[in-house]
Amino acid sequence: MIAKSSQNAEQGPLGRTSRPRAHHFRGSLGRFATGVAIVTFDGATKRHGITVNSFTSVSMEPPLVLVSIARNTKAHDELAGRPFSVNILGAEQKQLALHFAGRPGPEPRWVEGDTAPRLSNVLAYFECTPWAAYDGGDHTLYLGEVVDFNYRSGDALAFANSSFTTIPESQLGMEDLL
Ligand SMILES: Cc1cc2nc3c(=O)[nH]c(=O)nc-3n(C[C@H](O)[C@H](O)[C@H](O)COP(=O)(O)O)c2cc1C
Repeated sequence: MIAKSSQNAEQGPLGRTSRPRAHHFRGSLGRFATGVAIVTFDGATKRHGITVNSFTSVSMEPPLVLVSIARNTKAHDELAGRPFSVNILGAEQKQLALHFAGRPGPEPRWVEGDTAPRLSNVLAYFECTPWAAYDGGDHTLYLGEVVDFNYRSGDALAFANSSFTTIPESQLGMEDLL
């Protein structure tokens, strides 16, 4: 996420006219189509969920995944050192994505995972123990070691050019080639 324009931000690498540059930067980043995931975990006093499209696989051995969490979110400080789940959403789960992106709807159904809470009936999930956290500017890169995972069949929810879209399951299925 790009910091709001300020005197200092305008001196930064995005140039002097940082607001339009930031808008253009976001637009350029948006051309990279992604899936949509929700990071869920129990914080000190409450359960958290945050919609992300920054999910990335990092390592097979050990099995590591990464999410990039903005410093200005409620989840950011609480996630440090805590186990978490990454819930990959199916095409029909756009409402869940919005629910955990500041547009709450009906309370979702939870699954009490062995390591961290997760959401019911998602396309895939990864339960993680905390591995490392790295400075990522106005975000923090949280890496988790995957201790449990599974998936179901179905189309994937995707995000591109600031819009939700669908990736049909027929276009998936090349896991063995990677
Ligand atoms: C499709 C989509 C992808 C998002 N990806 C990220 C992300 O990777 N990292 C992040 O920190 N916020 C991301 N957000 C924004 C957070 O979901 C949003 O800021 C959230 O409401 C913050 O929670 P809070 O209001 O509890 O602080 C994304 C939102 C959407 C709709």
